[in-house]
Amino acid sequence: MNEVKTVLVNNLTKGFDNIMAVSGINFEVYCGECFGLIGPNGAGKSTTIKMLTTLLPPDDGEAVINGYSIVKNPAGVRGSIGYVPQLLSVDGAMTGYENLLVFSKLYGLKRKQREERIKRVLDITGLEDAAHRQVKTYSGGMVRRLEIGQAILNYPQVLFLDEPTVGLDPVARKTIWKHIEKLRCEQNMTILLTTHYMEEAEALCSRIAIMNKGKIAVMGTARELRESTGNPHAGMDDVFAYYAGALESQEGDLRDASRTRRTAKRLG
Ligand SMILES: Nc1ncnc2c1ncn2[C@@H]1O[C@H](COP(=O)(O)OP(=O)(O)OP(=O)(O)O)[C@@H](O)[C@H]1O
Ligand SMILES: [Mg+2]
Repeated sequence: MNEVKTVLVNNLTKGFDNIMAVSGINFEVYCGECFGLIGPNGAGKSTTIKMLTTLLPPDDGEAVINGYSIVKNPAGVRGSIGYVPQLLSVDGAMTGYENLLVFSKLYGLKRKQREERIKRVLDITGLEDAAHRQVKTYSGGMVRRLEIGQAILNYPQVLFLDEPTVGLDPVARKTIWKHIEKLRCEQNMTILLTTHYMEEAEALCSRIAIMNKGKIAVMGTARELRESTGNPHAGMDDVFAYYAGALESQEGDLRDASRTRRTAKRLG
């Protein structure tokens, strides 16, 4: 990690009909850093990621990714990022290899380059042996690894991961962590991820921002967040409850559980 800032977010704002999904947030991410956006359901995490990946225009504010403005040069932003959405982005009827091939064509890679990149991505994601099986036979963790593979085919400088491990068992989750950490260390990729899991944020992210109701409630290293609650020995779940509100997180758990089941069903 160095002091170059790859992501600069300034007063980013987005409202829907009767709700301010994101209210004037500010943060920066350094080159080669893994930065975590944490928060309960509806906090505004996905809306933030969609604005940063240029899928949604902001109502106000600005962000600069790799030197490109999301407002003035969305095409420049798109060319230098990878994005793994919260919802499924692979085709179960195709093999892993075929899914990667479609994406490599979308990225405009030449034939020779396509073969090289797909081989490299299968290696990075540990999917070589399963490459020629239909994706509907994959486990949830394998599907998520394939989605990450799709997102890194164009060797992006910044990778956005919206809940990379939702619905996965603890072992599959740790495998995904290992791959994310590998991308960050070996490719010096800057990674911005969202999660509900505080332990995940602590394991992967050098800094964490806790979002609640469209605002960033607090931001810092896991240690700084603990100390900011007045109890340096607080568990990370206590930190989450402190900033996100115990009631909301309970309500969130219920919605999270039903969504996890939906995800499992889609993957199944
Ligand atoms: N397209 C949309 N139209 C209307 N409201 C929306 C839309 N997208 C998001 N919202 C609302 O904006 C708020 C923030 O949603 P967002 O999806 O960003 O939250 P989140 O933090 O990603 O939540 P989760 O943890 O459940 O994924 C929510 O109240 C949501 O209902
Ligand atoms: Mg979301």
